[in-house]
Amino acid sequence: MSAQSVPRLQQHRNLHSNDEPITAAEPPAVEPSAVEPSAVEPPAAESQHDAASGPIPGPKWDTFKEAYDLPPATPSSQYEFGKDVVIHGFLGKRRDKGFSLSFCDVQTPSHTIQIVSTWQEEGSPEQIAHESLKAVPSYSPVWVQGTLEKNERSVSELAHPAASSKSLDLRLRSIRCLNPFPKDIIVSKDAVWPLKQRHLQLRFDPVLRQRLRVRNRIMGAMRHLLQGWKFQEVETPLLFKSTPEGAREFLVPTRRRGFAYALPQSPQQYKQILMAGGLPNYFQFAKCFRDEDHRADRQPEFTQLDLEMSFATGAGVRDLVQRLMGKVFNALRAEFAPVEINGIHHPVFKRREVSKSHESNSEALGEESATEESRAQTSPPSYPRVPSVYPEFSYDAAMTAFGTDKPDLRITSRNVSNITRIDSFLPRSFIQMITDLEEPIVEAVKFRLRNGTSPSHSARFIREFMDALPNTPLKLTPGSTPGVFVIDPSKPVQGLSALGHEAAGRLAEMSTRYWQQCAKGDIIIIHARKNEPFRGGSTDLGRLRTAIHTSAVEKGLIPKRHVFKPVWIRDFPLFTPEDNNDKNDSKGNVWDDPGQGGAAGFSSTHHPFTAPLGPEDLDLLQTDPLRAKADHYDLVINGVEVGGGSRRIHVAEVQEYVLRDVLHMSDAGVAQFAHLLEALRAGCPPHAGFAFGFDRLLTVLCDVPSVKDVIAFPKNNKGEDPLVGSPNKTTPEQQKTYHLFLTEKE
Ligand code: AMO
Repeated sequence: MSAQSVPRLQQHRNLHSNDEPITAAEPPAVEPSAVEPSAVEPPAAESQHDAASGPIPGPKWDTFKEAYDLPPATPSSQYEFGKDVVIHGFLGKRRDKGFSLSFCDVQTPSHTIQIVSTWQEEGSPEQIAHESLKAVPSYSPVWVQGTLEKNERSVSELAHPAASSKSLDLRLRSIRCLNPFPKDIIVSKDAVWPLKQRHLQLRFDPVLRQRLRVRNRIMGAMRHLLQGWKFQEVETPLLFKSTPEGAREFLVPTRRRGFAYALPQSPQQYKQILMAGGLPNYFQFAKCFRDEDHRADRQPEFTQLDLEMSFATGAGVRDLVQRLMGKVFNALRAEFAPVEINGIHHPVFKRREVSKSHESNSEALGEESATEESRAQTSPPSYPRVPSVYPEFSYDAAMTAFGTDKPDLRITSRNVSNITRIDSFLPRSFIQMITDLEEPIVEAVKFRLRNGTSPSHSARFIREFMDALPNTPLKLTPGSTPGVFVIDPSKPVQGLSALGHEAAGRLAEMSTRYWQQCAKGDIIIIHARKNEPFRGGSTDLGRLRTAIHTSAVEKGLIPKRHVFKPVWIRDFPLFTPEDNNDKNDSKGNVWDDPGQGGAAGFSSTHHPFTAPLGPEDLDLLQTDPLRAKADHYDLVINGVEVGGGSRRIHVAEVQEYVLRDVLHMSDAGVAQFAHLLEALRAGCPPHAGFAFGFDRLLTVLCDVPSVKDVIAFPKNNKGEDPLVGSPNKTTPEQQKTYHLFLTEKE
């Protein structure tokens, strides 16, 4: 490395100060002296402007120059045993087997090829190549020439899809390093690199790369299918305008004083305008932007597969989405195999086994093919099949049975009961012990841990869970405390004595389809809630049910089920009161969307363009809008809302009535939707649509907890991208140009 270039690069590496903490094996900070002795020399201050007096080019200058003349790599379709080929790729760790024999993998775009380097005669071309190989630092990009040889291990190693199968050997003739990997970056096995070094995570984490590959394949499959079904992809603008659709927006200042664009929270309004414009079936992989609290399942910038159909009903859209998802599950099954690492089923691309009868052609060389599933001889295990029709629950039914509008149907009554109402037989004295509420609804949920879990083990598990609760994001509504019981035959009334004999007996004997009769070691949680219609995403008991189940699975007390369980949740309330302190998701996170800013005291549950469910709900807009249901549906898989949609209001007068007379938006607020009202007025047909949260769908398919795991360059929990250092501070010049932070007079 050139003497002067090191400090300049070094300086560059230290520019962002907002590093995230490193979560695992952290590459050590770079010691300037560990890089090169010359690193301590000060940079030439004037070099920025005067090319002639810039740093003296070092060996890297030549390395770059040499790269111009390199012969191209041999296409992998032309690989043949015994043939001379050129490969490009990243060098792995060299394995020296004595003085004159070394092996080293090269990861090419399509194969892992093992270089075999050996020599017999001093000064021979083989010896020179061998020394060159030894001089190239591991992980460097290389150009290699040699003869392809059959590797006897190919067949067996290919049988494991996760193995970096050394399907080919290359007898080394010549190697060139295209850019040496620096010594100061320490690569350790299973290192987790901070987001600031995402390029290294991408390079050294094959599982992350596989997830991006799944993303690419699923995106391709969905696009292909929709196009085949006569859907048209239309790009809609990213420089949109601010409208009170629901979520908080990002603004983009302009040079025109006082004017800004807003980035779209979704292409919702444009896609409806497309329907008014007569395009029948639209879709788009759309970037969406929402300035909301950061959580594992959210990013400020995320991707939707957005779609809309004219002359369609909600049922028609759900049918289409279901067919699309069926194909997605099939594509995953056909191309990827689940490989378990730390309890997570990672999708790994299936490789075809080497066919013994065609060893001389490229196919026989184990080249990866993404398409020819018919010829793919897959190795077990496989992804499970998913039924083609999904169960549907109304919002009220889901909230009643599961206490959440995002139920995880992998949770079965074998281990966890549905929420069951029990206040009809509970003594008043007990109810008063657990709540201050007048005439509450009291419900229970029951957990059965792994076979043979003793009452004392169950008691220890649930005590630890409840003790840790105050330090988790799961917040319970004040005024009620959960009653916790463990069925223990060695105790009076089996451990239920606080309920009184009669109620304890009733509870112990209770048996329904979703509540198995009590047995030794069962845990029962009893909780009270207000006797009023459901609001928001979950109830206290629903959040406890989900969280206790998750904790039991993490501790191995309930088996994790590696299946996909999709479910439709529909018929949501059209509006949600704004004072709703229960506006939270199933994990207890509270959100604070600004809504539509109307004076009604409630805002649209989905968005203000959602149609009432039926004619009676339309009429309720005039009398009791909070009772109106919406033709709004969410697709939930394994407890994750992977998408949502609705039938729209396609008549301008009705839309304006909702904005002005139901939501009580100001004239100025309504005027922000003038473009949409105008489009609806122009004979817009009935229409309905849906948007997949594409990142969330990927987390479900890849069995990972966070959308960050399926995005190449995600933002951290502060909404920053530490890799590039965004967002960055505006300069005084920019502030002036864009009229930022300036008072009216400036
Ligand atoms: P909705 O707001 O429900 O509907 O969004 C659709 C889906 O997008 C995903 N999603 C997110 N994913 C990652 N980060 C976020 N911050 C985030 N916010 C939402 C969710 C959600 O189900 N225009 C309507 C769709 C329609 O009505 O057709 C819309 O955007 O998976």
